[in-house]
Amino acid sequence: MNSTKFLVGDRVYLRTIGTGGFLRIDYMWRTADLSIMIGEKEEWAKGYGTEAVRLLLNYDFKSLNFHRISLGVFNFSKRAICAYEKAGFKKEGALRDGYFCDSRK
Ligand SMILES: CC(C)(COP(=O)(O)OP(=O)(O)OC[C@H]1O[C@@H](n2cnc3c(N)ncnc32)[C@H](O)[C@@H]1OP(=O)(O)O)[C@@H](O)C(=O)NCCC(=O)NCCS
Repeated sequence: MNSTKFLVGDRVYLRTIGTGGFLRIDYMWRTADLSIMIGEKEEWAKGYGTEAVRLLLNYDFKSLNFHRISLGVFNFSKRAICAYEKAGFKKEGALRDGYFCDSRK
């Protein structure tokens, strides 16, 4: 989904640097969870994440007419939280024991 441009000779190529989309879509209640991941570390903190989240939200709210988009984020992921808040997300709460990661709670 996210891509950067690079030149080889006089040709411009697009390189995929991450993915994004929606999970747990409920068409009846018009809600979904947003998911995004930039896999190429050297492309972090260049504004791509915020831009991609804004584009996804715009598509979801305007084209699909959804009214609520949620996401979960680890509280130590400061860069992610910053990007999500810049794109318009508001913190609603903190889950206790909400994630199971690397065989640990
Ligand atoms: C999370 C992710 C989508 C964010 O996208 P991004 O392109 O890196 O983020 P952006 O550049 O749009 O915005 C990051 C913001 O955080 C800020 N930031 C970076 N490191 C920070 C830190 N340690 N503390 C606070 N803010 C920080 C940046 O300055 C930037 O804000 P600014 O534009 O106002 O300067 C991307 O980094 C990613 O996919 N990372 C790997 C997966 C991950 O960490 N997921 C989160 C866990 S749920």
